[in-house]
Amino acid sequence: MFYFQAQAIPRRPAPFPGLAAALEDPVRTRLCEMFGIDVPIFAFSHCRDVVAAVSRAGGFGVLGALAFTTEQLELELKWIDEHVDGKPYGVDVVMPVTYAGAGQEITKADLEKMIPEKHRKFVEEVLGRYDVPPLPEGHSGPESLLAWTHAGARSQVDVALKHPIKLLVNALGPPPKDVVDRAHEHGVKVAALIGSVEQARKQVEAGVDIIVASGHEAGGHTGEVTTMVLVPDVVDAVSPVPVLAAGGIGSGRQAAAAVALGADGVWTGSIWLTVEESDTNPVVTEKLLRAGARDTARSRSLSGKPARQLKTAWTEAWDGPDSPGTLPMPLQFMATSDAVARINRWAASPKSRARELVGMPVGQIVGRMNEVRPVHEVIFRMIDEYVDAVQRLDGTLAAAEGKA
Ligand SMILES: Cc1cc2nc3c(=O)[nH]c(=O)nc-3n(C[C@H](O)[C@H](O)[C@H](O)COP(=O)(O)O)c2cc1C
Repeated sequence: MFYFQAQAIPRRPAPFPGLAAALEDPVRTRLCEMFGIDVPIFAFSHCRDVVAAVSRAGGFGVLGALAFTTEQLELELKWIDEHVDGKPYGVDVVMPVTYAGAGQEITKADLEKMIPEKHRKFVEEVLGRYDVPPLPEGHSGPESLLAWTHAGARSQVDVALKHPIKLLVNALGPPPKDVVDRAHEHGVKVAALIGSVEQARKQVEAGVDIIVASGHEAGGHTGEVTTMVLVPDVVDAVSPVPVLAAGGIGSGRQAAAAVALGADGVWTGSIWLTVEESDTNPVVTEKLLRAGARDTARSRSLSGKPARQLKTAWTEAWDGPDSPGTLPMPLQFMATSDAVARINRWAASPKSRARELVGMPVGQIVGRMNEVRPVHEVIFRMIDEYVDAVQRLDGTLAAAEGKA
């Protein structure tokens, strides 16, 4: 299906024979061979419909497991298996290198006891300030709180490896060696997100096959170095290990820039929040469509580690003068998860002030997310624009040749 659309793109005649060949297979890198995909566009999403749609369209969908219990994850992966038409896909887990209780046998109850009373009071105080009621009878907050710990993520890995996944991705630190070994035994490649050259080197030492170099402008957890600076530094540091560029990539021009910087493809997240297939809360979708590039904040309010998200009354409260300060991972998420569930629930009511608090992790690319489109159209346009960008670059060489 995807190839039919790609070939339907009206193309300008290629100025050089090499480029003509490249245009038939517009964006081919070694990752296309590695995974049997048409284009090296990797898409992170917590929404199974988006993951399956990206893989069906010739890219590579990766399901974020963080929000799911092991039972839910099993159901999501079963659904993807049934809807992905045999195309490859992956799973992303979060095994932070540092968190409260790391290295100990720790239960949810143990962690709950580590949340200070002043943080619980602050959460209630902010909810009160915006008149956010409790959840209706029979509703509860998220159940997957331990997915932020190694023990929780390991049980997700157990579930994931029972499915025909082709890639296991880890965020926030090198995955433990036994996890890398088990993935490899199953024929599954391992990728990891990093925000600095030092972190990239550690991941390669841990046996990771693909580095996702994620710049400052990215949605979700993000470091201090921008994509433009990070990607070439990481490519040079870990060569020949393939690198995916992440952070601020939502168009073919940005994808072409990533490949020019030495990346073997792109890893994208934010752009999928506003596609037709996405399950994003409609109130949040409206906010995303209206937001500009300056409407995000890198705040610790979500998880305790800096994560880029929509700037809201909630992020401002945590970063403001009355804040008790954020807690280390996973305590911040635990202290706020019920509140966030309440905010999301009540934001659906037109007059609720929960709308001022409701947010979403998203990167600076949000400024370009101005319409709702189906997944295949986003990919189709990215390829079209990539081809245009490459032709324009090639034209700069032709111009130089003409002058010589
Ligand atoms: C809503 C949202 C949730 C995210 N959650 C995770 C996550 O659970 N695990 C992870 O590895 N990355 C997560 N990320 C980061 C993405 O994997 C990706 O690195 C990032 O979105 C790339 O930058 P971009 O947003 O500019 O495309 C998340 C990003 C967004 C937008």
